Amino acid sequence: MKYSKIIGTGSYLPEKIVTNADLEKILDTSDQWIRERTGICERRVSREDETSGDMAVVAAQRALEAAGVEAEEIGLLVVGTTTPDLVFPSTACLIQARLGLPDCGAMDVNAACSGFIYALSVADKYVRCGDVKKALVIGVDKLTAMLDWNDRGTAVLFGDGAGAVVIEVSDEPGILSTHIHSAGRHSDLLYADVGVGKGFKAEEHGGVCIKMKGNEVFKVAVRTLGRIVDETLAHNNMNKSDLDWLIPHQANHRIISATAKKLGMTMDQVVVTVDKHGNTSAASVPLALDAAAQSGKIKRGDMLLLEAFGGGFTWASALIKY
Ligand code: ACO
Repeated sequence: MKYSKIIGTGSYLPEKIVTNADLEKILDTSDQWIRERTGICERRVSREDETSGDMAVVAAQRALEAAGVEAEEIGLLVVGTTTPDLVFPSTACLIQARLGLPDCGAMDVNAACSGFIYALSVADKYVRCGDVKKALVIGVDKLTAMLDWNDRGTAVLFGDGAGAVVIEVSDEPGILSTHIHSAGRHSDLLYADVGVGKGFKAEEHGGVCIKMKGNEVFKVAVRTLGRIVDETLAHNNMNKSDLDWLIPHQANHRIISATAKKLGMTMDQVVVTVDKHGNTSAASVPLALDAAAQSGKIKRGDMLLLEAFGGGFTWASALIKY
């Protein structure tokens, strides 16, 4: 049986740091409220001219370098993003050209905050079935460009960034399983109300913004993530105690700790970056993964559970022997 294994990670964060104190100056909010309700202290905001593609290219170069893999060895590129540079060509195609990848398959996967794990699940299948030996998987988002900076219910939550992994076919377990789900019936709880089928007018696209019924999203997220971690462990005949690390989507510290509690894990076993990154959507899980890899927190052979929940709704998980 073949597996795909993560052989390198990389990430990129924009330079500009926006602290809660900065937001206090423009919104009716407080550092205390944001910290207590979300765990976020600061987030990165990309330059106006800095696109998802720009951030992704740097993260991908770093992942390729960490893996010791040349661009021409890549057989598939999958990019999880909900903030593409253009409607088309896909951000993946733009990145494929900029990185000098061969004429491999390149596609975007739009699953909001679950985008990276969705993308990873696609690439994992291609590698496992033998079609591709090495794949590049990226999670990237520039949600701050779609924020209404007057809406304290969303403006305090999000940040920008990119994370990437290189996966390779292996006889030894790496990615043990991936699980993806959706529930479009909840689309009115979290959405960005612009699209080709919904009033898109190029000259007006400055008005795009994210709408969210945060507390309802919160409840569904906690419930749903609880279910998917059970599903993932059951699928692999594993117990909670087999897990070494939880690498969750970084939306809210309270959602993260609720999932950790359900798994019987202490917060020492959870990779938390929400305090520094905010919610970077599809970039959040690979950014956290890379931070944990760079700091030496996670070691080869550790059992990692990755999970995410986002607009759609979508939710996804991956169990990985690192
Ligand atoms: N500063 C101060 N007060 C605020 C702020 C703010 N930034 N935002 C809201 N409030 C107020 C509200 O107006 C409300 O006041 P009221 O009681 O007088 O009406 C009060 O705080 C409580 O509001 P809630 O929305 O109930 O607060 P909650 O504890 O639910 O926290 C939050 C809000 C942080 C948004 C939380 O609900 C959350 O994290 N939700 C899930 C987000 C998520 O996981 N999204 C999915 C991924 S995102 C993606 O896919 C793109």
